[in-house]
Amino acid sequence: MKDKIDELLKENMSPECFDLYYKLHIPLDQLTSSSGKFHQRLNGSIPTQGEHIYNMLGTAIKMKQTLDINFDLVLIAIVIHDIFKYGYFGLREKSNYEHDRMGADAIKESSMVFKGVFNGDEVRMLENAVRFHMGRFSNDFQDYSQMSPLAWFLFFLDMGDTNNAIKGD
Ligand SMILES: [Fe+2]
Ligand SMILES: [Fe+2]
Repeated sequence: MKDKIDELLKENMSPECFDLYYKLHIPLDQLTSSSGKFHQRLNGSIPTQGEHIYNMLGTAIKMKQTLDINFDLVLIAIVIHDIFKYGYFGLREKSNYEHDRMGADAIKESSMVFKGVFNGDEVRMLENAVRFHMGRFSNDFQDYSQMSPLAWFLFFLDMGDTNNAIKGD
């Protein structure tokens, strides 16, 4: 799955953003839901985070014209949105429900990492998208006015894949 994701990103990302993606070491092998309560495929199996990301990326690429923003930002938001699903070091046994806030706070605190590729407004959009990628279920959600268009798009893709409504290929 990593090869398929890399190929898709290489084709659709700028080289600078692809380097950034590579340095982030996105976890791809763990299951999207450790309890098996969410994300079930039609045959009852639980996809890996890699499959989840691949479906979201493939769908976003097909729907590229939806958002009038830097497409690197859309792609990086997708690859990074669940980065701490198993905690900061990926070592937690169970997937966790605070990963939206953990990811967003880390982007805010490490904004320098993103600055070579994105400007300040874009880094803030990325933080907002990760913070609210669970829509009204997000830990920091108070009302819908907090959600940027990119956050909405990410929420749509995330829910779409969780409910088997989208596909990557
Ligand atoms: Fe998530
Ligand atoms: Fe997700």
